[in-house]
Amino acid sequence: MSFDYKVADLSLAEAGRHQLRLAEHEMPGLMAIREEYAASQPLKGARIAGSLHMTVQTAVLIETLTALGAEVRWASCNIYSTQDEAAAAVVVGPKGSADDLQGVPVFAWKGETLPEYWWCTDQILTWPGGEGPNMILDDGGDATMLVHKGREWEQAGQVPPTTDEDSEEFGVFKELVRQTLATDPQKWTTVAAGIKGVTEETTTGVHRLYQLAEAGELLFPAINVNDAVTKSKFDNTYGCRHSLIDGLNRATDVLIGGKVAVVAGYGDVGKGCAESLRGQGARVIVTEIDPICALQAAMEGFQVARLEDVVETADIFITTTGCYDVITAEHMTKMKNKAIVANIGHFDNEIDMAGLGRVPGIQKTEIKPQVHEWTFTSGSSIIVLSEGRLMNLGNATGHPSFVMSNSFSNQTIAQIELFTKTGDYAKQVYTLPKHLDEKVARLHLDALGVRLTELTKGQAEYLGVDVAGPYKPEHYRY
Ligand code: NAI
Repeated sequence: MSFDYKVADLSLAEAGRHQLRLAEHEMPGLMAIREEYAASQPLKGARIAGSLHMTVQTAVLIETLTALGAEVRWASCNIYSTQDEAAAAVVVGPKGSADDLQGVPVFAWKGETLPEYWWCTDQILTWPGGEGPNMILDDGGDATMLVHKGREWEQAGQVPPTTDEDSEEFGVFKELVRQTLATDPQKWTTVAAGIKGVTEETTTGVHRLYQLAEAGELLFPAINVNDAVTKSKFDNTYGCRHSLIDGLNRATDVLIGGKVAVVAGYGDVGKGCAESLRGQGARVIVTEIDPICALQAAMEGFQVARLEDVVETADIFITTTGCYDVITAEHMTKMKNKAIVANIGHFDNEIDMAGLGRVPGIQKTEIKPQVHEWTFTSGSSIIVLSEGRLMNLGNATGHPSFVMSNSFSNQTIAQIELFTKTGDYAKQVYTLPKHLDEKVARLHLDALGVRLTELTKGQAEYLGVDVAGPYKPEHYRY
């Protein structure tokens, strides 16, 4: 078999396959779902355009979706996050070879340029043979944005001219849409009409979806996977607790113990980051805008301060806010010599990289890929990881398999839900019902040797719940 694809190097497929095999062992939720739905094939007929970091764990997700009957095209949602061996293994497929591709078209490699990134995103929405995708699986909302903006500009009759106000990336994005409309003037109206729904992985993408829904502009139903408890309270927190430190170590190998680390934002991601830095012996300072999260951080024993007050004395700065301009160029000019600056939030605008590049006389030196020293005219320098993009995927390999098994079990269930029950959903944003959240957790207990206590019938009646769950009301916050 052969099909279109673009990855770094197909000869890495065997190395990737070994990693996938080990990852499958650590992803009991996904493997149980494969078994449960092997016969019924609920995703037969689904044509899924996937935009999510092309890692080993994502490879197991992709092969779960195809095992359930789906056809898939995949791109990464970040220019640095692809693991090239995983991408190659997915293209070749478990039983294929370089001469006989049996896998899935992937368009992703580590170190894409911005035009290449948007080209890859366009490829997953451009299916050969006329029929477009009918589902999107998104992380951060870029594929969803391409369909929405593409259709909006197509119907307005033009892509707005690029201005000085546009970020470099938005300018590249506009150019891509211009090119697609030059070859097919109705492309995005057609693609949008074919989509039954989108399932969104992360906080930032979910935020974009709610904005679209509130404006009445959402073109198809969406499931917010992020806010499944077994996603955001696990992946965002325990995943980052693992992969933040991994990224820092691989990038810099600086001893974290004894250093002063600032974590901007104490939401789900910030909580995991602050805990892991403390675990390494760092003295952690949190910055927050939300009094509840600030109080939580204080109760956990973290100093809560304003960035302005600690910017000159801290050694490590991590942004986790999903906000923009959290660390400005001015902040960076005031930092200690060799301070480390990194972002673990979804987009690269948390740290003002464009502003840093405009500091008069500044010099950028590549220490190694995704690790840069920026030297000011004073001779003092700072180390910026992954050019301000999410460092746990740019400098390391993202979250480990076990935690991603929780997230991706939710993704798979959400895809099945929207694809098989399309008529039940309006053009709004939904979360998965609690009994499915509990199911995802349940699928991961055995592997950890967890023995759950079972309610008696009497106890269940006393608590007002069913013996089989759900055990908590919707408003419970965990
Ligand atoms: P969240 O909403 O739970 O937490 C963000 C926190 O930042 C909030 O408490 C908010 O009050 C605070 N904040 C906002 N603006 C701030 C500012 N200017 N200064 C200080 N604090 C500020 O969101 P969550 O789930 O923690 O996600 C954060 C970001 O991380 C999102 O962009 C999300 O998409 C991304 N993410 C990244 C992952 C990764 O593997 N790198 C994994 C999961 C999420």
